Amino acid sequence: MGKDNTTCAASASPYVPMTGKIVAAEKMTDTERFFRIVLDGGRQLGHKAGQFVEVSVFGIGEAPISICSSPTQVDSFELCVRSAGNVTRALHAMKAGDTVGIRGPFGNCFDTEKAKGQDVLFVAGGLGLAPARPFIRYVLEHRKDYGKVSILVGAKTQAELLFKSELKEWEARPDVECLVTVDRATDGWAGRVGLITTLFGEVTLSPMNTVAVVIGPPIMFKFAVLEALSAGVPEHRIVCSLERKMKCGLGKCGHCQIRHVYVCQDGPVFTYDQLRKLREGI
Ligand SMILES: Cc1cc2nc3c(=O)[nH]c(=O)nc-3n(C[C@H](O)[C@H](O)[C@H](O)COP(=O)(O)OP(=O)(O)OC[C@H]3O[C@@H](n4cnc5c(N)ncnc54)[C@H](O)[C@@H]3O)c2cc1C
Ligand code: FES
Repeated sequence: MGKDNTTCAASASPYVPMTGKIVAAEKMTDTERFFRIVLDGGRQLGHKAGQFVEVSVFGIGEAPISICSSPTQVDSFELCVRSAGNVTRALHAMKAGDTVGIRGPFGNCFDTEKAKGQDVLFVAGGLGLAPARPFIRYVLEHRKDYGKVSILVGAKTQAELLFKSELKEWEARPDVECLVTVDRATDGWAGRVGLITTLFGEVTLSPMNTVAVVIGPPIMFKFAVLEALSAGVPEHRIVCSLERKMKCGLGKCGHCQIRHVYVCQDGPVFTYDQLRKLREGI
């Protein structure tokens, strides 16, 4: 959905990171931390919903991370980082006031314009809420431009739910249908229990007028897409964000390549009909 590649405009060379200051670093779950970053020198990132940055911890390395704040938030941007290895572990040890390197924004984006006037269904499992969040926030900030908005969120347990206070706000909004479920109830959870796919039974879709944004781990993605398809949403209206191993982010090194496609530039946002042709991508 939309191929709107952006190059690293603010840095002299796209390989040289800009520097930025962490202005907020907060624990979200046992494995995820939230960061708000302000670029040095008053620079603005200028990202679009769905893009990512290469974040470097100097002396350790860099990792691609989705920008999880709305594109309308221009003076800072936000990241939700899962501790997975060397770079992300080092990031987790950083605090407000520390400096990181930033390259980007990279990749294409969700087509927020094309979705105007349409119903939007977000299906976000686990960490998938991070790349979905800029699009969700943008839609909610421009609520009257969109039709029915449904947000389905799933996590293994309530301890693993991301952006909990925002989920509560979305659930309370009369103009949004936000349904949250966990696979297993723990610690007095009084909400829904069941896989995210069970939430499809609670929403009524107008499939030919719906853009379905499905993001999450591969197994969840597979079954959520099957639900969207069986509800009648056409393949070209199902949009997702793909993760591949990446290095340059610039379509040069080939680390992210699937046949003729460079996920770092042609993606990470793809429609399901594009993805189906890239079987290895799913
Ligand atoms: C476009 C894009 C957006 C992403 N957005 C986010 C995000 O918002 N938040 C977040 O926490 N993570 C995100 N990731 C995943 C993140 O980039 C990896 O977890 C990170 O690169 C791991 O780096 P590391 O040095 O900490 O771990 P390493 O020491 O490099 O590796 C740790 C483990 O993670 C595996 N791994 C490394 N890169 C990836 C990858 N891209 N996908 C799957 N497994 C990988 C390695 O094989 C190894 O098993 C994104 C990845 C891509 C490509
Ligand atoms: S990450 Fe280098 S070509 Fe995509």
